[in-house]
Formats: sequence, structure tokens, C-alpha cells
Amino acid sequence: MNRIFSGIQPTGNLHLGNYLGAIRNWVALQREYDCIFCIVDLHALTLPQDPKELRAQTREVTAAYIAAGIDPEACIIFNQSAVAAHTELAWLLGCLTPLGWLNRMTQFKEKAGKQRDNAGLGLYAYPVLMAADILLYKATHVPVGEDQKQHLELARDIAGAFNRRYGIDFFPLPEPQIFGAATRVMSLRDGAKKMSKSDTSDYSRINMTDDADTVALKIRKAKTDPHPLPESEAGLEGRAEAANLLGIYAALSDASLAEAVRRFAGRNFSEFKEELAALAVGILGRIGGEMRRLVADPGYIDGILRRGAERARAIALPNLREVQDITGLLRA
Ligand code: TYM
Repeated sequence: MNRIFSGIQPTGNLHLGNYLGAIRNWVALQREYDCIFCIVDLHALTLPQDPKELRAQTREVTAAYIAAGIDPEACIIFNQSAVAAHTELAWLLGCLTPLGWLNRMTQFKEKAGKQRDNAGLGLYAYPVLMAADILLYKATHVPVGEDQKQHLELARDIAGAFNRRYGIDFFPLPEPQIFGAATRVMSLRDGAKKMSKSDTSDYSRINMTDDADTVALKIRKAKTDPHPLPESEAGLEGRAEAANLLGIYAALSDASLAEAVRRFAGRNFSEFKEELAALAVGILGRIGGEMRRLVADPGYIDGILRRGAERARAIALPNLREVQDITGLLRA
């Protein structure tokens, strides 16, 4: 069976982009693949984190996976740091990764900003750890939002570099799965900016834990333009905010962008926003309520993570041992 690996960093609030770009697609795929969903706490440490918050967020992301419909029996859910083989494989792969490949990563450039010399080695090496996450399980498919595409290309390059160096067809080249009408959800206040955990501007982001009134208010306040909604997809050209809201509607109703455009063709934004708000409140309200219920029972969440880590280790350790043998590390 083909295997999926994907993950989310436990930093800040999970938002609609994480849900539509990643989690919702995982739920749809979980019956067709052998699935491993990780809470990548080691990746979170590439930027400073408050230890108490990090633990709480790790449980909250776990709760989000389950509340959104990931079945913890069918799928493996665990936190990255519980399986030490991730960091070990990251070192072995790092030794095969040319600096030139890492220098091309746009997310590092964005996150490091102008203070490049002060950025941590972890932030720079982050895509190598991500490659290790995937390759450790010989995952064949990786469902993510569009912003992870470049990191996945690097993971494929690293897998190829390992296979070539040792003349063996060991790691499959993982396929990105970037699909649906909302692979890149934009800020509700600025159609040119990605919806992100780090955006502090008011009303830019819908959080998965927002209550119904807050979700509806943020949609009502979302930036639009003065024209009615277009008659065709071509009419979305140059209308980033309209395209974003229609994409969100389409993804939440499992429709294509073309279908959403057809449905609201020529209508005004206020009517459309009322329908979008009702749809979003219905879906996110249920998930948010379930998340709150799960987070209130940390013992249950920790049990899921413990069991998940055991199951993850059972796949990871034999693969790591094979890599050790291939690379010539003596296991006396
Ligand atoms: P992270 O935590 O930034 O984001 C988690 C997932 O959410 C998607 N996403 C979005 N999708 C659509 N629109 C948006 N505005 C939006 N913002 C975020 C991301 O594409 C991602 O799928 N490096 C990864 C975590 C990771 C990983 C892995 C993923 C570590 N190891 C192995 C896959 C496989 C990250 O920081 O995602």
C-alpha cells in the first residue's frame, strides 16, 4: 500500500489554511493510504518557543487532527521528538545535501529576514529534517499546502542523492499531493499575503478554535472589491480577494472553484459572505467544539501520542538500521 506522511508545526493557532491546505485533504485520503500524521515539535524549535506553550500546542494540534476526522486507530498520530530516528536520519541526509540546495529555500530567506547571520542552524537545516521525516517511513505521498512544494522537491532531490551515492534504489521519491480549491489560502485582509500563524493583524486569519460569532465577523469584515462576483473564472484575474473567498467556499463544500464561481455569478459580496459564513461556522464550529472537548482530557491525547509513537518506531527503526548498514556504520 502507498504510504502518506505529513505534519504540522505546533506553533501558534491552527488556521483555515492549515485545515484546507492539509488536514481536510488528509481526512479524505486516510482510507486509501497507510497514513502517518505527525506533530513536528522539533521543527517548531527552529524559532524560539515557550516550553509550556509548546507542550500545550502539541496537544492542541493532536486534538485538531482527531476533531477534524482523522481516525487515530487507522492512522498513526505522534509527535516527532518521540521518535529519535528522525534526527539521526536528518544528520545522515545532511551529510549528502549540498549547501547550494539549502540556499535556494525561499522559506528560510523569508523567516531569517535581513538578520541572516543571526538565524539558527536549525532554521537553515529545517528542510533536511523534513526530508528525514518523510524518508524515514519510505513515504510515497505527502499531502501539503502549496507553500511546502519547494521543501518537497528538496526531499525528492535528497532521496535521489542517497540512492545514487550508494547505487541502490532504497528511498522512493515522495510525490507531493497539493490539491483542492484552497492550496494557498490568503489573508482575509490582504489578498497578496498568505494566511499565516505569524500574521498579527486583526481579522486576517480564521483560527480553527474561533467561535461561531468570530468566524462570521471575520468573514463579514474580509476585504473585497466594489464589483459583483464574476461570471467566469477568467473574471477573477486581478481580483485576489474574490478568488480567495470563492476558493475557500469551494474547498469547504468539496466543489471546484469553477462550480463556486458559477453558483455566485453576478451576486454581490454581502449575500455571498452570508452563505460562506454559514458554511464555515457549520464546519469549524463542530471541529472547534470537539477540539475543546479533547484538549480538556490531556490523558486521552497523551495516550494517542504514546501509542502512535510506538507504532511509528516499529516502522522507523528497521528502516534506520538498513540506512546504517548501507552507509557503513558498524552495528557491532
Ligand atoms: P506548517 O506547520 O507551516 O503548515 C502545516 C500545513 O498547512 C499548510 N498551510 C497552508 N495551506 C494552504 N494555505 C495556507 N495559507 C497554508 N498555511 C499552511 C502547509 O502547506 C502544511 O501542509 N514544514 C512543514 C511541516 C513538516 C512536514 C514534514 C510536512 C515537517 N515535516 C513532512 C510534510 C511532511 C510546515 O512547517 O508546515
